Amino acid sequence: MTDFYAVIGNPIEHSKSPVIHHAFAQLTHQDIQYERVLSPLDGFAETVHGLISHGFKGANVTVPFKLEAFAMANRLTERAQDAGAVNTLIFDAEGIIGDNTDGVGLVRDITQNIGVSFAGKRVLLIGAGGASEGVLHPILAAYPHLLIITNRTLDKALNMVKRVEARDEMVFVSVNAYAFDDLDGQQFDIVINATSAGLSDSQLPLPSGIFAPYALAYDMMYGRITPFMAFAHQHGATVFDGLGMLIEQAAEAFSLWRGIRPPTAPVIEMFKQQAKA
Ligand code: ATR
Repeated sequence: MTDFYAVIGNPIEHSKSPVIHHAFAQLTHQDIQYERVLSPLDGFAETVHGLISHGFKGANVTVPFKLEAFAMANRLTERAQDAGAVNTLIFDAEGIIGDNTDGVGLVRDITQNIGVSFAGKRVLLIGAGGASEGVLHPILAAYPHLLIITNRTLDKALNMVKRVEARDEMVFVSVNAYAFDDLDGQQFDIVINATSAGLSDSQLPLPSGIFAPYALAYDMMYGRITPFMAFAHQHGATVFDGLGMLIEQAAEAFSLWRGIRPPTAPVIEMFKQQAKA
């Protein structure tokens, strides 16, 4: 019997999730259907209940509904609580479970696909919005030596640091917030862009010397070469976009729903080939 899943967002027509999940299903011999669902901006809860009443087993949630998904879940995983947002819903007999697979997706892409460990590294996380919050704790759990959060609005970065400091299990990692201007003279081994500046082709005011030798520059955005990526390439970093993260967060959701972990390398390769064509 076919099980049904969906990705809910607004807009949704460009979502790659159905292609990714159908590829996973084929690779793991799972019988699923995965659809794009456009929810009205003021009708997210109704959309979710509609899917449940049609027998759907779960859903991914994307912009702009991750906070509403967090609010409507009956149970939240620890990583959803840490992120303050939900990107994966599981529908079962007791209700709606909310999880967040974005952070683990990012960390897995960097450590397993790209092959760069966070352990002992100096990490710069740019941005203090939802995307940044979603990956903060999984990055800390990978034990970098230092994590600096920088953001145009410094207060938001300072608040993220305060929340980390309020949890004592993170004491091994030194966490701080800096304004863009104060990054001058600092060097990082891993620089992650979690801002949406790339959407408007805006350049971030980063000093050119922030990339340590052999630094990795990672833009969580997928589908375009952002000014950040061009800047990082120009200053000697090895540059990656968010394709691997997109596929790894989907793989984590698929594993939760199906109890089987799909291979991600062939799907990442398929997207890379399509982008070249
Ligand atoms: P998301 O869910 O994608 O993180 P968000 O919560 O609106 O969206 O956050 C957007 C992030 O990108 C913020 O860190 C924002 O900086 P501010 O907090 O100062 O608004 C950052 N951002 C967006 N456009 C930017 C730009 N042109 N330059 C620098 N930062 C930018």
